[in-house]
Amino acid sequence: MHWKIKASLQKILHFTNIGDRLNHIPATLVKDYHKNVCLYQFYECIRKFEASQIQLNTAQSKAALEIGTGYSLISPVVLYLLGFDTIVTVDISKDVSIKTFQKQVRFLQEESLLQTIAKHSKFELSDITQKVQQLQKLQTLEHVCSFCNIKYIPKYTLEAIENVSNSFDYICSQVVFEHIPPEFLEKLFIKMKAWLTEDGCAVHTINFIDHFANPGFFQDKNISEFNFLKYSDKQWHFWAGNDIAYTNRLSYVYYLELCKTNKLQVVDFIGENYRAYHPLAAEEIHPDVIKKYQQLSNVEDVCTYQRGTLIFKK
Ligand SMILES: C[S@@+](CC[C@H](N)C(=O)[O-])C[C@H]1O[C@@H](n2cnc3c(N)ncnc32)[C@H](O)[C@@H]1O
Repeated sequence: MHWKIKASLQKILHFTNIGDRLNHIPATLVKDYHKNVCLYQFYECIRKFEASQIQLNTAQSKAALEIGTGYSLISPVVLYLLGFDTIVTVDISKDVSIKTFQKQVRFLQEESLLQTIAKHSKFELSDITQKVQQLQKLQTLEHVCSFCNIKYIPKYTLEAIENVSNSFDYICSQVVFEHIPPEFLEKLFIKMKAWLTEDGCAVHTINFIDHFANPGFFQDKNISEFNFLKYSDKQWHFWAGNDIAYTNRLSYVYYLELCKTNKLQVVDFIGENYRAYHPLAAEEIHPDVIKKYQQLSNVEDVCTYQRGTLIFKK
């Protein structure tokens, strides 16, 4: 389907109060949706945590911040099971529900998953197993959050985070930064520099591709996954400048520049191409895209990776 059809539908949906929820419905109709979400959140949470090399089996208390909770509470719950003492999870919207959590948490009760947690956790396998059983009995989000020491802040501000804590050992996000406008990313990077503890670590997985090329009923199979880089800011704002469709069209180079500006030490950047790769030629990339960078030695660099994980320290 042509991407402009999906873009037009999202533009219409965004005028309704429940546009984002309606937009999310098709994804939830897939068979085994809750199992898939739970396993995805689990493995991505463990993968990022391993990349941080944080040790949780020490006497020192540790705090984690997750940026962009989304629809699932599995990731912050796994952070609790790993042994973080407090977990703050924030989003601009409020999409977590107890019903969804109950449908997903039962899939954590699998021996191989529990053992993977135990390998890194400050808790013993038997404790973790018991906690997962207890979590399945909880009837409200408040009970889940209080059981796991999770502070969920929907519709957050940076001040709201600081009212809870201004010091974090671990800061993570999963496919969220590409939805944040550059002006707010700048503020967030300044704060992350201030909030990270001396040996703290941040791990962020960012998707760099045009979301209209994402798989699903509305996928446009005829466009490059970097198609959105062909358009001016004005044209792109017309099609995707709403809160359902917005992506910032920034590549890994931009995030490395943000680290440099804020004197954050980049431990690693792991770039990935996880699907058929169709980079654009330099002349196809719009000047508005190029001008977002302080220095871009090769214009084609904005198409190098489809996804990546940025790991940095203070
Ligand atoms: C693709 S979803 C990912 C959600 C979740 N991390 C996951 O892996 O399922 C992107 C999320 O980023 C959130 N988001 C957008 N702008 C944000 C911002 N400035 N700060 C935090 N979250 C934001 C959206 O509301 C949405 O929940």
